[in-house]
Formats: sequence, structure tokens, C-alpha cells
Amino acid sequence: MIEVKNLKKSFENEKEEFHAVNGVSFSVEKGEIFGIIGLSGAGKSTLVRCINRLEEPNEGEVLIDGVDILKLSKEELLKERKEIGMIFQSFNLFMQKTVAENISFPLEISKVPKTEIEKRVDELLEFIDLKEKKYSYPAELSGGQKQRVAIARAIATNPKVLLSDEGTSALDPANTESILSLFKKIVTQYKMTIIMITHQMEVAKDICDRIAVMDSGKIIEENTTEELFRNPKNKITRSFIKNLQEDAIEEKLIAEKFKGSVYRLGYGESTYQAPILSRCMKNYDVELSIISGNVNTIGQSSVGHLNIEITGDEAEKEKAIDYLKENGVTVEEIK
Ligand SMILES: Nc1ncnc2c1ncn2[C@@H]1O[C@H](COP(=O)(O)OP(=O)(O)OP(=O)(O)O)[C@@H](O)[C@H]1O
Ligand SMILES: [Mg+2]
Repeated sequence: MIEVKNLKKSFENEKEEFHAVNGVSFSVEKGEIFGIIGLSGAGKSTLVRCINRLEEPNEGEVLIDGVDILKLSKEELLKERKEIGMIFQSFNLFMQKTVAENISFPLEISKVPKTEIEKRVDELLEFIDLKEKKYSYPAELSGGQKQRVAIARAIATNPKVLLSDEGTSALDPANTESILSLFKKIVTQYKMTIIMITHQMEVAKDICDRIAVMDSGKIIEENTTEELFRNPKNKITRSFIKNLQEDAIEEKLIAEKFKGSVYRLGYGESTYQAPILSRCMKNYDVELSIISGNVNTIGQSSVGHLNIEITGDEAEKEKAIDYLKENGVTVEEIK
């Protein structure tokens, strides 16, 4: 389990202190894939770099299975670092080394015996499905293949956690997909924990168990992926969710166009298939007009929202809204 507590990192910018990470706390269970999403400059890279101390934080705690990484001496840190693998957008492979040598590198640092290294490299090449490239150089590989090698190198020492900083951002959709399925395989087969940074919600939504949204050095919203899609609270979160960018404009238009009260209904798998709206109209003396909506598929479930106008007597409207809420629909008044 990884616990980050009140982590802070600031930089001196022209005599001013700039808080790149400003009191971040979260925890990730073993075997979980935790996404951190945010706009450029939100502090995501600084945050992950503080987790493995590529950057020295000013304050806070980073506990990996109870061991505070920030309290370790340089020597102790060298040992503990093998518990934290990291991959980058730019792959960061050694260009002068072969694929096998790249993957061997962290094992050599950890003083693993040579025969064991050979065995482990072959096992990892099999795992990333790149056996035939064992003696190739990075320049001879595609972007997706380079990232697979970088992943093999990052997990070579069997770390407890894999940090990915925009690990798929330089890749096309097909390669992104293959890296994401490799992440899933790492979690199921090796029981590792993954913390992945991205600015693309499409990437996070299919794979992350939970997502935290970061802005100006802080986590502004955190939830299970399903719940975040069902009921995003923050404007920035909404703008990250596909189609919701248009919604912001749409919500304004709605406010101008519709005379009655307009609500945003959030629904999940259990409510998605039930005829809740028609029952609501039958049971209460209200009229419902659907204005717009969308559905996203998160793993096995469908979640989404509907913008509807409700007209009718105030008391009936309230009863109708309570009925929706009782049936698991979240209801938020837009106007
Ligand atoms: N070494 C540094 N010195 C000064 N300022 C820095 C340093 N590293 C990062 N920053 C600043 O901290 C802020 C957060 O940067 P960071 O790289 O963590 O953002 P990010 O969320 O990863 O952005 P992106 O999505 O573009 O990668 C930025 O404003 C950046 O300019
Ligand atoms: Mg970054």
C-alpha cells in the first residue's frame, strides 16, 4: 500500500516561492491502478518525481508498505528504489545499449547474479512479447516497442509500485491500447500497484480503478472512475470527461433556452437500464423533457448523464426529484 501525506514541493522562481505540489494526500491499495489527471503545469510530474525522490519534497510523507521513503538515507534509498519502477513519455532508454542490456541494467545495479539476470531478462522479454528484439538497439524499435522495453526495465526488480508519467502520451491509439493492456497484465500477474499520470481522460477511464484530478498543485477531486464519470463535481473534472466540454457550453445555452427548471441527472449501471424516468412521469404530475445526454462505458458498466427540463407544480417537482434520488440517480439543478 502506498500512502502520500501532505506532500509539498516548491521552487524558487525569481525570488518568489512557487508551490508546484501544495499539500497532496492520497493512498493506493496494492494491485490498484490509480490515475492522476490534470492540465499542463498542474504539478503531476513533480508529484511523481517526489514519490521516488528524483525530486526532494519540502514536506510530507511517502509511505510504501509503511516505510517512509522521505526519511531514508541515500544508501537506504538506493535499496528501496528497487521497489519503485518508473516510465516516462520519452521512454528514456539507453540508446547505446541493446534491449537485453537496457532491461538488465537495474538488475546489475541491484547486484543480481549474472545467471539470474539472464533468466529474468528472457522472462521479461516474453512478458512484453518482444523476444525477437533481444539484441536490437532502441533506434531500431517503434515507439510502442520502446515503451514496452522501458516497462520491462522498470519492473525488472519486481517493484511494489510502477509510476508512469505520461507513459502513453507519445503513442498512437493502437500502441496506447497495447501499453494499457500491459499495465493490466502487470497488476494481475505481478500484483504490482500502478500510479499513472496522464492528461487524457480516455486513457485513464478504461484502466484506472480510481482517478484523482490535480490542479495548481492540489488534488481537487478524487473518486472511483465510475463515480467520477457519474457525478463529476469540479468544472475541471467535467472538462476532462469526454463530451462534457461541450456540455459546459450546452449548459449555458440551456439556461437561456428553457423556461422551466433544468436538472442534470447522473446515472450508473443500475439506474441506466431501469425505466425510472417514465415511472417518474406516471407517478407524479410533472412533465419531463430530455434536452441532451451522453453515456460512457467504464469497464463493464455504462454511466452517463441526462439534462432534462421538469415542469409542473413545485411540490410535485420536489416529489419527482426525491423519487429519482431514491432510485440512485444523482440530481443537480442547473437552473
Ligand atoms: N525544476 C523546476 N524549477 C522551477 N519550476 C519548476 C520546476 N519543475 C517544475 N516546475 C514548475 O512546476 C509546475 C508544475 O510542473 P509539472 O512538470 O509538475 O507539471 P505537469 O502537471 O507535469 O505538466 P505537464 O502536463 O505539462 O507535464 C510548473 O509550473 C513548472 O513550471
Ligand atoms: Mg508532466
